[in-house]
Amino acid sequence: MPVVLLLSGPNLNLLGDREPDIYGTGTLDECVADARAIADAGGHVLEDLQSNHEGELVDAIQGARGRCAAVVINPGALTHYSFALADALAAFDGVKVELHLSNPASREEWRRRSVIAPYVTGTIAGFGRSGYRLALEAVVERLASE
Ligand code: DQA
Repeated sequence: MPVVLLLSGPNLNLLGDREPDIYGTGTLDECVADARAIADAGGHVLEDLQSNHEGELVDAIQGARGRCAAVVINPGALTHYSFALADALAAFDGVKVELHLSNPASREEWRRRSVIAPYVTGTIAGFGRSGYRLALEAVVERLASE
C-alpha cells in the first residue's frame, strides 16, 4: 500500500491550546486522525511526525525518498525561511502538499512568503482543521490518477 508521510513543524504540537482564534480548538492528534481516516479509506498508509526541529523534518523527508508516494507538510514558521526544507522537498519525487490551518497570505507580512511553495504540487491553506482531510483527499485523488 502506498505510504503518505504527514509532517508537522514547530509549535504544531500545541494545537488546540495555541491561539485557538487563529488555529482552532482541534488538537494535532485530531487533525492527524482526520487525515488518517481519508488515507485508510483510499487504501494508503499514513505515517506522521511532528517536530520542533528543522533537521528532524529534513531527515524525515530524505527518508521518504523512494519509500513514500506523497509528503503532506505543515512546516509552521519554517515555511517562511527554511531553505533546508525547500531543498529536501525539491529532492523528493512524489506528490507534495503544503498545508496550513490559517491563510498565511492574509496575515502578517513575514508570513506571506513561502520558500517551499516552488517545490510542492499544491497548497491548502485557510480551512482550519478541514485542511488535513482536504490534503489527503487531494493526495489520494492525485495518486489514483497517476
Ligand atoms: C501555520 C502558519 C505559519 O505562519 C505559522 O508559523 C504556524 C502555523 C498554519 O498552519 O497556519 O506555525 O503553518
